[in-house]
Amino acid sequence: MTLQIDLKSAVFALSDALDLVGVNDFQHGKRVAMIARETALLLGLPEARLDNLVIAGLLHDIGVSSTTVHRRLVHEKEWNDRQAHCERGHELLQPFAHLSLLAKAVLHHHTPWAELPSDLSEADALDSNLILMADRVDSVLLREGMANPLLHREAICDEIESMAAHLLAPEVVRAFLAAADNAAFWIALVPRHVQFYLSELSLTNWRVTIEFPQFRHVARLVSSIVDAKSHFTASHSLGVAQLSRHLGERMGLNGDVLVQLEIAGLMHDVGKLCVPDEIVDKPAPLTFEEFSVMERHSFETYQILRHIPGMKTIAEWAAFHHETLNGHGYPFRHKAERLSLEARIVAVADVFQALAQARPYRGPQPAEEIPRTLSYFVANGALDPEVVAVAGEDLQASWLAATQTL
Ligand SMILES: [Fe+2]
Ligand SMILES: [Fe+2]
Ligand SMILES: [Fe+2]
Repeated sequence: MTLQIDLKSAVFALSDALDLVGVNDFQHGKRVAMIARETALLLGLPEARLDNLVIAGLLHDIGVSSTTVHRRLVHEKEWNDRQAHCERGHELLQPFAHLSLLAKAVLHHHTPWAELPSDLSEADALDSNLILMADRVDSVLLREGMANPLLHREAICDEIESMAAHLLAPEVVRAFLAAADNAAFWIALVPRHVQFYLSELSLTNWRVTIEFPQFRHVARLVSSIVDAKSHFTASHSLGVAQLSRHLGERMGLNGDVLVQLEIAGLMHDVGKLCVPDEIVDKPAPLTFEEFSVMERHSFETYQILRHIPGMKTIAEWAAFHHETLNGHGYPFRHKAERLSLEARIVAVADVFQALAQARPYRGPQPAEEIPRTLSYFVANGALDPEVVAVAGEDLQASWLAATQTL
């Protein structure tokens, strides 16, 4: 049986993952999508264009993995280093059939209207400018506080008006001011209403089903965003996916399950996007408080993945990677009977890959020492003995799977 995923829910899950990068500046992409769409409605854009604009708004900051970069983008009006995340976003979206439609708008979402390249299509130019406008509106809201967006209407309208001509297309400014005149426009921007707004959109063109092998590309996209968070973890998710697949193969799992296992590996740390860079890169053991933030990450992974219809099992394989057989792991304290073979494989692959890579507080462990460290985790009841034995049987192949990036 081939399993299928609905692309709309996959994109929404991606947007939930990107939301995490904002840490406390929550739902930035979602509000940008809403503000851009409400403005575009007054420009009379057809439904299909509105749908693409919503997705572009949700994913416009897909090139941002770092919580520090996110903070600077939102809170520093004149930060000069903006273009890098636009280019990174374009590069990430370009190879994927459906998402490539949004790549140009994402590339130019900080380009002033008057400086857009002349060969850009009318649709991409307008979409990128609507996102630039919405991004500016939301940045002010985040700086001022989200408790009562309506309170900041006047100041924001003045700012947007002052951006007309050079930064923003005059028609975008006119449509925004008309939309902003409506109090409901502002009241709808609080978290509860944002969720309603987005879930009620039908996004017909994005209601297509993709099969697991295709969904693997989305998972790969997520892994690149997560792995870009810190140079220490570069390719970590990819290595965990490759090693999980390799171990699954050696343990006799079949084709479909292997693809799903790979997807679980690619996405297992997606929740890490919410952990501030200072904690991920800390060159010393974490304090109790920092660890309590770190512990959130696999729970966030669970929440994001299990909301994609058809992904419940994969969500468990991915999110249980810090659970241990003896029930002392986190965040659920599950015991052996609740941990499937696939979840145990991802857990072993996670530790193996992490040992093979340097961390801020230690160097990489040589391949021949890894089985000894893994057997220590077996002895204390954390990791599965059979999976660890398989990883050590053909150590060179396991090492290559965990560390090779093609
Ligand atoms: Fe941006
Ligand atoms: Fe943004
Ligand atoms: Fe993790």
